[in-house]
Amino acid sequence: MPSYQGFLSEVLITEEQLKSRVKELGEQISRDYANSKSLVLVCILRGGVLFLTDLMRQISIPHAIEFMAVTSYGAGLRESSGQVRISHDLNTDIHERDVILVEDIIDSGYTLASVLELLCARKPKSLEVCTLLDKFERREIDVSVKYVGFSIENKFVFGYGLDLDDLYRNLPFVGVVDEEKYKNTKIEPD
Ligand code: IMP
Ligand code: MG
Repeated sequence: MPSYQGFLSEVLITEEQLKSRVKELGEQISRDYANSKSLVLVCILRGGVLFLTDLMRQISIPHAIEFMAVTSYGAGLRESSGQVRISHDLNTDIHERDVILVEDIIDSGYTLASVLELLCARKPKSLEVCTLLDKFERREIDVSVKYVGFSIENKFVFGYGLDLDDLYRNLPFVGVVDEEKYKNTKIEPD
């Protein structure tokens, strides 16, 4: 397996920066939902997992967690199509509950818009979004996002939950891929 150092163009967000921003977001959510009796964090698999597990440890009020997995129809490797199918649904009813959707990154916004529509139909008491990263320049559909970790430029990133062809989610930082070098590392030598 090629080591990421060969195609890491830069560390965009360090482990320390992630830690301190996630702490701030956790504190903000704890304040905003201090009176909530039914808070549930809904994590979109798989990219949001590292963010969720760090974020929940910074939230000081009682809350539940749930997971949802969605697949984009006909999407290319690095972009989504706009139509999503639920491949794993929530295990609990979110009716009349305060829901925060926890995402790794918003790109075109199509994935998020579809998931919000699905969840909204279940009539939660409230529904907000908390995303670690926001590639705002790429937005094609308007979605309202209450909590944003970092707004980033239009570069393909990996690490801290985000994958590069399903790998490298474990890296403790968010890095930018050097596409040219990455392409070359995938060609096996004779
Ligand atoms: P959207 O539907 O275009 O907003 O796509 C969002 C999804 O695309 C995210 O949940 C990620 O799974 C994936 N994605 C978009 N940009 C990146 C990136 O830079 N690195 C890794 N995954 C990405
Ligand atoms: Mg994702």
